[in-house]
Amino acid sequence: MDSQALRSKQDDAKLHIVLFPWLAFGHMIPYLELAKLVAQRGHHVSFVSTPRNIDRLPKLPPNLTPFISFVKIPLPHVPNLPENAEATTDLPENKVPFLKQAYNLLEEGITGFLDAAAPDWVLHDFTAYWLVPIATKLGIACGFLSIFTASALCFFNPSGQDHRTEPEDFTVAPKWVPFPSRVAFRYFEVVKIFNNAIAGDASGTSDMHRFEACLRGCDLLAVRSCTELEPEWLRLLEQLYQKPVVPVGQLPPILPHGGDDDEDETWLEIKGWLDKQAGGSVVYVAFGSEAKPNQTELTEIALGLEQSELPFFWALKLKRGPCDIEVIQLPEGFEERTKGRGVVCTSWAPQLKILSHPSICGFLSHSGWTSVVEALQLERPLILLTFLADQGLNASFLREKKMGCLIPRNEEDGSFTREAVARSLRLVVVEEGDKFYRDKAKEMRAVFGDRDRQNQYVDTLVSCLKEHRRHVHKAARAN
Ligand SMILES: *[C@@H]1O[C@H](CO)[C@@H](O)[C@H](O)[C@H]1NC(C)=O
Ligand SMILES: *[C@@H]1O[C@H](CO)[C@@H](O)[C@H](O)[C@H]1NC(C)=O
Repeated sequence: MDSQALRSKQDDAKLHIVLFPWLAFGHMIPYLELAKLVAQRGHHVSFVSTPRNIDRLPKLPPNLTPFISFVKIPLPHVPNLPENAEATTDLPENKVPFLKQAYNLLEEGITGFLDAAAPDWVLHDFTAYWLVPIATKLGIACGFLSIFTASALCFFNPSGQDHRTEPEDFTVAPKWVPFPSRVAFRYFEVVKIFNNAIAGDASGTSDMHRFEACLRGCDLLAVRSCTELEPEWLRLLEQLYQKPVVPVGQLPPILPHGGDDDEDETWLEIKGWLDKQAGGSVVYVAFGSEAKPNQTELTEIALGLEQSELPFFWALKLKRGPCDIEVIQLPEGFEERTKGRGVVCTSWAPQLKILSHPSICGFLSHSGWTSVVEALQLERPLILLTFLADQGLNASFLREKKMGCLIPRNEEDGSFTREAVARSLRLVVVEEGDKFYRDKAKEMRAVFGDRDRQNQYVDTLVSCLKEHRRHVHKAARAN
């Protein structure tokens, strides 16, 4: 066989790729979107998680089931981790370090699986910082698949020797960013996470350390990002780490094309209400599967919505799992006073379907990237209010790119007022003088909703995985 024929034979070869996301739905869902896109190209994907998480994932389209295997590794028990808690959504925030501890103990299970399955690649999340040496030993190429934007990744220290020791140090762009940028935490955000994320949590390791170990150790860095959005940050990342950086696109979910599952009771009821509202009039409010406002925040958000006089649909999480004891309540009389104009839904709500509904005019969101992608793919302008501190980098990036309006807060303690909530909402969705955010959302649809571009990103990823697998194997043989 001549070398060209050999090459094309290798190009046709099918890959086996293992995906190992962190135990949070905001991570598992985009990993699953990528799994589907890779499987559509005839490659095999093994999606590894714990049993209860896999059981809660959305169903696969039947044509892809032969290409995606779900691998269930039971979550080892650790003290202080509540029974049946397998994802961050099952737990109050202060118990998440115990989930990380249990996740570390998946090491034995996944090593056994990798050893037996001998895949070409394992693409893992920031929490699996211990996986790199294991995969290397087994001769399996290792990629860090980051659902964090490139701008957020550039915030971590490429040299491992951090000069930043105080919370204030994290409120400005780090010194290795060569261009002017305001992508950084706000003071109140970093203070909230400082101890756990930077100094180390109950699992014995800090998130900072996890990220840095993944960034430095991996053979390839795959980022949920695109060159249309943050070319300067993708380039910087490549310079900082001197390894292939591959944007994989924003992984927008496939949009529901109305009428396909009319038997879904919850949706029919919600749709019934939305259908009665005027086109482009309703604010959708939701803070993701994890974030839960504290009582002060809840009161200000509710009274702000009331003051805005806008119709709203609010998907509100009142509890993080059965062991959450921090009770929060809507202000007295709120539901009575907003009756007819607003709905508060405290059970699960089909976000993508709601966002697709023509009555929706904007999205008050926590700035989790999955929500951001869903909103921008549908041209819905964003009003942002962060809860978990690590959402702060997303929010400051969106502010820098003028893609979302942050509700003004006190920089020291993060407090905000109902007036600020009402004003920001009206600014983005009604005021004529400030069509700015609506125009920007239109412009962004081309970036976030373009399936052809998304497909090109996945094609590029697959060829990089083929190409670099050869390098990794060659290097392994040389050792
Ligand atoms: C951004 O959004 C993602 C996805 O929701 C979330 O997991 C992450 O914590 C946020 N923050 C950063 C810095 O990317
Ligand atoms: C609730 O969160 C706000 C920041 O949004 C903070 O200022 C306030 O102290 C918190 N309240 C409680 C009771 O934790």
